Amino acid sequence: NSRRDVEIVEVGPRDGLQNIKTTIPTTTKIELIRRLADTGLVNIEATSFVSPKWVPQLADGALVMKQILEHPGHEYQSRRLNYPVLAPNYKGLQNAHAAGAKEIVVFASITEAFSKANQNCTVDQALQQCEAVTKEAIQLGMRVRGVVSCIFSDPFSGPTPPEAILPVVRRLLDMGCYEVGLGDTLGVGTPKKVQDLLETLLTEIPANKLAGHFHDTYGQGVANIVRAYDMGIRKFDSSVAGLGGCPYAPGARGNVATEDVIYTLENSGISTGVDLERLCSIGQWISNEIGIPYGSRAGMAIASK
Ligand code: HMG
Ligand code: MG
Repeated sequence: NSRRDVEIVEVGPRDGLQNIKTTIPTTTKIELIRRLADTGLVNIEATSFVSPKWVPQLADGALVMKQILEHPGHEYQSRRLNYPVLAPNYKGLQNAHAAGAKEIVVFASITEAFSKANQNCTVDQALQQCEAVTKEAIQLGMRVRGVVSCIFSDPFSGPTPPEAILPVVRRLLDMGCYEVGLGDTLGVGTPKKVQDLLETLLTEIPANKLAGHFHDTYGQGVANIVRAYDMGIRKFDSSVAGLGGCPYAPGARGNVATEDVIYTLENSGISTGVDLERLCSIGQWISNEIGIPYGSRAGMAIASK
């Protein structure tokens, strides 16, 4: 069944791995992406082209891209797969383009403190870089997605002023991003907070220009997605096994687990095109490779059946 009511962006290979302290072999990263591509997922955030001093785990991004583009997943080879990669500045864009990336992700925080901690610049400077990079990437024929961080709270300065969000989202869309992911970096959101935010954003921005990127620190990720879905959002970022977290966001946990999201949506009659059982075995496998407990509740339940 190729009908998809909701599109998932699997961010495990990027957000999921960026905060893991032990160095994961490049071959494991490539294997992870190949296996994920075999579940029916079509958007897989593959890696980042950021400073290797800031995120050493993803320093092998060029190698990862080269391998997955040369030898794409065997079963779904005929499908069009998107492998977006993070590229916050011109150097990131150049490296991503040289590695064969067709889509980049530019990102900015809504809040100053996290912007400084994560990108060593102000929000306005980050947006200026986003704009320069986005324009150049579009010239190069690439697609550009925007992601904003700290939609609800900043790890250093506390709650985010709600009125700060719309201008940043609008600016990313105006500069040419085809959509903007709304990042609850700390995973402190609840359905009510999601609803309040979307009520504001949707007065000016069409639902198909927005996506949800919810971390699951308080176990609210699935609930947040359901509320956002009910309000018209049809695209969500999630991470296999619930891996993830930003090294510069102390206290944040992983992204909502893709397995949990697929379980909820498919059992609500909402088609995702993703093979849940296959995904669960990947979640178990990668958790084992990294040496951490398997973090998806649905995945654990399905595995122990
Ligand atoms: P900086 O130190 O201010 O930058 O970092 P700089 O321009 O002074 O450069 C420092 C060094 O980095 C130089 O090398 C540059 O060449 C190099 P040196 O001369 O010292 O040898 N460099 C690069 N190398 C490779 N690729 C690049 C690159 N850029 C500079 N692209 C910078 C500024 C933005 C580079 C840095 O702060 C950085 O890389 N930050 C990214 C941190 C990051 O990746 N965080 C996680 C992703 S964001 C996230 O997880 C949130 C999200 O999931 C949504 C959510 O949950 O909210 C998306
Ligand atoms: Mg994130």
